[in-house]
Amino acid sequence: MCGIVGYIGKREAAPILLNGLRRLEYRGYDSAGIAVLNGDLSVVKQKGSVENLELALQEKGDRLYGATLGIAHTRWATHGDPSDRNAHPHLNGVGDIAVIHNGIIENHMSLRLELSSHGYVFRSATDTEVLVHLIDRMWKEEPSISLEYAVRRALQHVEGAYGLCVISSREPGTLVVARKGSPLVLGLGEGEYFVASDAAPIVEHTRKVVYLGDGEMAVITEAGYMVKTVENIETEKAVTELDFDLEEIEKSGYEHFMLKEIFEQPAVMEDVMRGRVRLESGSLHLGGIKDNLEHLRKAKRIIICACGTSWHAGLIGEYLIEEFARIPVEVDYASEFRYRNPVITPEDVVIVISQSGETADTLAALREAKDKGALVMGICNVVGSTIARETHCGMYTHAGPEIGVASTKAFTAQVIVLYMVALALSQGRTLGDDEIAGYLQELSEVPAKVAQILRGNEAIQSIAESYRDARNFLYLGRGYNFPVALEGALKLKEISYIHAEGYPAAEMKHGPIALIDEDMPVIFIATHDNTYTKILSNIEEVRSRKGRVIAIASEGDEEIRSLADHVIFIPSAAGPVTPLLTVIPLQLLSYHIATLRGCNVDRPRNLAKSVTVE
Ligand code: M6R
Repeated sequence: MCGIVGYIGKREAAPILLNGLRRLEYRGYDSAGIAVLNGDLSVVKQKGSVENLELALQEKGDRLYGATLGIAHTRWATHGDPSDRNAHPHLNGVGDIAVIHNGIIENHMSLRLELSSHGYVFRSATDTEVLVHLIDRMWKEEPSISLEYAVRRALQHVEGAYGLCVISSREPGTLVVARKGSPLVLGLGEGEYFVASDAAPIVEHTRKVVYLGDGEMAVITEAGYMVKTVENIETEKAVTELDFDLEEIEKSGYEHFMLKEIFEQPAVMEDVMRGRVRLESGSLHLGGIKDNLEHLRKAKRIIICACGTSWHAGLIGEYLIEEFARIPVEVDYASEFRYRNPVITPEDVVIVISQSGETADTLAALREAKDKGALVMGICNVVGSTIARETHCGMYTHAGPEIGVASTKAFTAQVIVLYMVALALSQGRTLGDDEIAGYLQELSEVPAKVAQILRGNEAIQSIAESYRDARNFLYLGRGYNFPVALEGALKLKEISYIHAEGYPAAEMKHGPIALIDEDMPVIFIATHDNTYTKILSNIEEVRSRKGRVIAIASEGDEEIRSLADHVIFIPSAAGPVTPLLTVIPLQLLSYHIATLRGCNVDRPRNLAKSVTVE
């Protein structure tokens, strides 16, 4: 999704802004641009990569140098195609105000009509352009007001979501930013300030940040900053320390962030459990929810809302909570939940899951649930994110920054958190202390087992060679491994662009079996559990129709060797922890198939890391 960087201070703005844009590339984008203020505004923007923008800047040369104030943007097209003219920043007619914007201005059509009737000429198809003309209009109506007031007045006419930065040669030395819906972080340096849509471009300059809240603006000069609401009420903001290092957002020798993040999983899993799982006493300490644990245990029903991979983690959460704690669970797509007027009572608990903590649909589901009186618990990765701040209680996944668009380590971290929550809910109710200690022991053995699976990376890569040209894939699993089948299929389609479907294995005979022929590879997750023999029958059904079979099986299973074309073995484990193991080979398989096809795995086409629009 779009990325924002702003700088004001004493240093050259352009290199800082460009570097910031590079740090935001992971979010997904299709065009990039920069505006700096050096007497006049200088703007360079175009379709394509930040690298190309840098080349274009070199050609434009001197005009950018010496500027110590600027804004820059990576755009992910929503209104208007990816093109030079639609790239941000956008300028007003005389070119003395520049705006960059994340989010969607919902009433842009009516604003455009109104501004056009006042003689404003639009040069792009974006919703954003109305903002710059609106600010211009407000300023023309009252020439004595400041940039801050012109922005404030303009925002009173705007409906929708925004994270925006505005600079103007009419008031050099001021950077005005505002937020509603789309996140903005302010970085506090020594005599310099940074603004960005997430902390990645800021952490190499300063660890001190201020997160703007919805409906807040900041007016920043070299001398300081002030945060106010859009209604002009001054706000005291807490300064937060960033909890990650620069090296965590770099590739550390791996070819791609996705591969690095897959390989980080054993360490991440240890981090998720650290301080929470106490093996000596067989107990759990979940600080983020301890004050609400009794309320959570008494829930009549738990509803889990999330999107994409986080939704798949939620499905595993359903199985875990129902098995351990015997509380009924429903799992909803956040996007559907918010629009179907769901029945929620104060006796319900809603759990929202989001890696980024900024997903617009999940945030809206959270607000809907809160409005209807439910206790809302969050499971987020990004510390200080909007979802983390708006929930009543919650737990961080502590997976560290996830840069690859395809979620990997965040997924396994979410599943571990859900596993711990399910056990905590069952304590003193449905499971005895010994049983809980046993389940915790199983969990604690997972990181080493994942490390063992990762050592088989090369074998998985050679399986990927055989399937790099496949056009379709079917993923089948049962029980805890059904959500893993969905997740495996999503991983493959989002980074390799191969069509893939996940199904409960038993559903195959109700339709998908019609697709099976020699061109249809089928991945079976066939670990030893109570459905194992049924899955073997499903494998036979595929083989008799000439489908090719890749099986993910428990080590020591010789029977499956004779049935499948390829087998990837995983260490034996109890059912509830198997998703944490079976998903690993599927992540690696997708990664290798995608790289063999020459796809950009870290920044797949059309996708954004954090989906902050509906
Ligand atoms: O940040 P979130 O967890 O809320 O994101 C939800 C989905 O957009 C995300 O999981 C998406 O499906 C990923 N690309 C999956 O790899």
